[in-house]
Amino acid sequence: MIAALVSGLRIRLAMGWAALVALVTLAPQLVSGDRVATLAASENQRHVFSLLRFVLPNIVLGRQLIKAYDNTGTAIVTRHTDVTEVLERDADFAVVYEPKMRAITAGENFFLGMQDSPAYTRDVSNMRLAVRRDDVSGILIPLAARLSAEIVAAAPGRIDVAADLTRRVPARVVAAYFGTPGSSEEAMIDGTTKMFWYLFVDLAGTEAVTQAGLSAAAAMRTYLDGAIAERHANPTDADDVLNRCLALQRAGTPGMDDLGIRNNLIGLLIGLVPTLSKASVQALAVLLDRPEALAGAQAAARADDDALLTAHVMEAFRFDPINPVIYRRTVRDSEIARGTLRARTIPKGTMVLASNLSAMFDPLAVEAPNAFRTDRPARDYILWGYGMHTCFGGHINRALMPQMLKPLLKLRGLRRAPGAAGQVQGTPFPQNFVVEFDRVT
Ligand code: HEM
Repeated sequence: MIAALVSGLRIRLAMGWAALVALVTLAPQLVSGDRVATLAASENQRHVFSLLRFVLPNIVLGRQLIKAYDNTGTAIVTRHTDVTEVLERDADFAVVYEPKMRAITAGENFFLGMQDSPAYTRDVSNMRLAVRRDDVSGILIPLAARLSAEIVAAAPGRIDVAADLTRRVPARVVAAYFGTPGSSEEAMIDGTTKMFWYLFVDLAGTEAVTQAGLSAAAAMRTYLDGAIAERHANPTDADDVLNRCLALQRAGTPGMDDLGIRNNLIGLLIGLVPTLSKASVQALAVLLDRPEALAGAQAAARADDDALLTAHVMEAFRFDPINPVIYRRTVRDSEIARGTLRARTIPKGTMVLASNLSAMFDPLAVEAPNAFRTDRPARDYILWGYGMHTCFGGHINRALMPQMLKPLLKLRGLRRAPGAAGQVQGTPFPQNFVVEFDRVT
């Protein structure tokens, strides 16, 4: 009992200290620097959340900060226990994506835009039959390992990781595993990126991003309709996702008519290509900034110890996940953190930004959150959502990110290229990120 009190006090004192450090670090940058750039840096976001977790863990504002989806105000939730509460209570905190999903498909919703419903269960179940857990070890790891090794082996002492590796491998995985390469590799990368940007990133509702996303969607619909028609006309015996979908269709599976297959494929492809690319780039950038962690990842890569390599890559990604918040909208007035001093009632219609980045650095839930550790329990990570809508590709991500980076990490003398080229270029999706190395081991 006393030990628990002392431990609780110690953690809260550390939180207070971290809040103070955050204030001292951020204040000068926010007063005299470029505020947008300051807040875009993951390290600074972690400072902001240190401050909020201690001072104002749950904020409810009457102001609309997000324009892309209808809402009446904004709430920001920062403590691990409250973030998971929001994401678990999907009946009260609903996904908002439906109108944009319908715009992407020119009709139907996709399951990430659905509330818990028969259609949600039907579509997720169908796609789980087509994209199987066994495929991760049986197909995807060997495929991504081969594709990545080929690309890195052909690089002459330097490589543009974003342009030539992490954007290429997911697109080639889609080509081989889904059986839908796109009208070109470039079109697959570019189109899925623009749609993702429109759907999930552009919270300001920018017209140009909307137009780019919608025209990419029209092109992707045309391409996939054609690919499905072509497969009907000229069947193949490939064991790919498209053929598995068509087998489900022949078996009379509800939701698997051509349109259903096309819409589900669009959703998965949007989720797959830009995310895996950006995530791998960001994890590598974190490793490159931490010599000890990099050395650990390199040793694991060279020893072909995939479990240890994965632990390094996931831990690196925790420091800079591609989405620092997951957003929902309240269906009704909803109280969170009930019975605590930080309890707040969030009015109906409020956009709730549940910060998974903050949750992963909350010392009340995560031991030594600022330390780079490779022995963390799985519950310390909220890298791809939580609750009902947890990423469909979670096991794929855990497997493919390390495989893409592994041949790079095997190289001697891996380092950022000098100057701007060695920094991640392109926002919100990395376009270029050049690293150099001495020789292939
Ligand atoms: C590192 C790469 C990835 C990251 C960081 C990521 C992130 C996420 C996140 C945060 C969510 C939850 C969104 C929310 O609750 O609002 C999610 C859901 C989803 N992701 Fe991913 N994702 C990645 C890769 C993939 C891949 C490879 C696929 C496809 C195979 C995919 C397909 C989906 C789908 C379909 C959902 C919706 C799941 C549902 O509604 O049940 N994602 N992802």
